[in-house]
Amino acid sequence: MKALVIGSGGREHALCWKISQSKHVDKLYCAPGNAGTGEIAQNVDIKAEDLDGLLAFAEKEGIDLTVVGPDAPIAQGIVDLFKSHGLRIFGPSGSAARLESSKAFAKRFMASAGIPTARYMVINSIEEAEKAANDFQMAAVKADGLAAGKGVIICNTPGEILEAVKTLRQPGLFGDAGKTIVIEELLKGEEASMLAFCDGKVAKLMLPSQDHKRIFDGDKGKNTGGMGAYAPTPIAQGLENRIHEQVFVPALEEMSKAGTPYIGVLYAGLMISDGDFKVLEFNSRFGDPEAQPVLSLLDSDLVEIMQACIDGRLGETDVKWKQGAACCVILASKGYPDKYDKGKAITGVDEASRMDGVTVFHAGTSMSAGRLVTSGGRVLAVTGVGASIEDAIKKAYFGVSCISFEGMHYRKDIGKAALARV
Ligand code: AMP
Ligand code: GLY
Repeated sequence: MKALVIGSGGREHALCWKISQSKHVDKLYCAPGNAGTGEIAQNVDIKAEDLDGLLAFAEKEGIDLTVVGPDAPIAQGIVDLFKSHGLRIFGPSGSAARLESSKAFAKRFMASAGIPTARYMVINSIEEAEKAANDFQMAAVKADGLAAGKGVIICNTPGEILEAVKTLRQPGLFGDAGKTIVIEELLKGEEASMLAFCDGKVAKLMLPSQDHKRIFDGDKGKNTGGMGAYAPTPIAQGLENRIHEQVFVPALEEMSKAGTPYIGVLYAGLMISDGDFKVLEFNSRFGDPEAQPVLSLLDSDLVEIMQACIDGRLGETDVKWKQGAACCVILASKGYPDKYDKGKAITGVDEASRMDGVTVFHAGTSMSAGRLVTSGGRVLAVTGVGASIEDAIKKAYFGVSCISFEGMHYRKDIGKAALARV
C-alpha cells in the first residue's frame, strides 16, 4: 500500500521510520518532510496546512493511508475533508480535536466527563479577570486556542494573573485564541505525558513518557516545543490502570455521546503528585518529542494499529512494547525558541547513526548544495534505546557527542528525573 505522513518535524521522521518498517507499506511519502524523512520516504513539497493541495495529491497518487503529525491541519479539519472524499486517514475529526484546539472546550468537557483536572474559570472580560485573580491568587493563565505552546503563563500573584490576561488579550498576538482566557488553579507535582491509540470506543495506552519543555537545564528559561523526552517514565508507572479508567475511558464515552467519536492518538498531559493525577491538557496527536522515544519502543506494526483504529477494532489488535527504555535529546539552534539563524552546516549525523542503539531523527534540517544544513529551531532529535533508562540516556548523549553545528544548544539533563527514582 501507499502511505503519506503529513508534517516536517522530528515526530514525523519517527512516524516515517516506524511506518517504513511495516510489511504493509511499499511506498511512503512525506509532505513536506525534512532531510531525514527524505532518506526513507519521498518528500512532497506541499505544506502541512495546504489541505486542498494534500487532498489533490492523495487522490492523484491513490494514497491508501494518510497519517497527520501536527495539530494545525487536524484542527483545520483535514480528517473530515479526506474522509468526505473516501480517503483513509488516521486522526481525529475537527470536532473531536477541539480537545486540543480550544482550552475552554477541553475544560468544560473534562468537567462534564468527570475527568480529574484543575479548578478553572473561563473569562471574557477584564472585570471577570479581576474577580478570578482574587479568587485564585496563583494560577495558570491560558489563551483559548492553538498558540504554538506559547499561550500559557504561570502566575504567582493576583497582579501577575491580571498582567497575563492583558498580555494574552493583546490584539494580534494570538488572534481569536486570545479573546477567551482560561484561568486555572496552579497545580504542583511532576509532569508526564500519557498517549493512547483510540478507535472511538477503545483506548490502548502507550508507554508513559516525560517531556522537558524549558530551554535550559533544571527546567529554567522559556517554554519550548520540547527539548527532550524519555520513556517509560517511573513518574507515571503503576498509575496506568487508573489513568486509563479515569481519563481515557470517560473521554471516549463523552466523545461518543456527543456524536464525535475520538479516533486517533489522544495525548493527556498530566500533573502527578503523591500518586494522584490531574489532566493539564489534551492534545489530539502524537507529542513531539515524545513520539521519538515512544515509537522507538513500539514492537507492533504501527500501520496495523492505525488501520484497526480507523476500522473500530483496536480491541482485537495487539499493541506490544519492547523491554528497556528510550531517551531523546533535542539539538536546537542558538536563539531558539526565539529568533535563530538557518543554513548552518551539520556534521557527524552518519557517525552517530552508526552507533549501536542510536537513531538520529531529523527535525529542522534540509539539504543545500549536497550538504546537510539547519533549517529550524529544533534541528535533530538524537534517540538512544537501551536496556535501562541509564543505558538509553548514555546512548543518546554518545550520539550527541558525534554531532555539531554552529550555535548547537541542547539540555544535558534529559531523563534526570527518572534517574533520581531508580
Ligand atoms: P498546557 O499547554 O495547558 O499543557 O500548558 C503548558 C504548560 O504549562 C504545562 O506543561 C505545565 O508546565 C504548565 N501548566 C499548565 N497548566 C498548569 C496548571 N494548572 N498548574 C501548573 N502548571 C500548569
Ligand atoms: N511535547 C509537547 C507536545 O507535543 O505538545
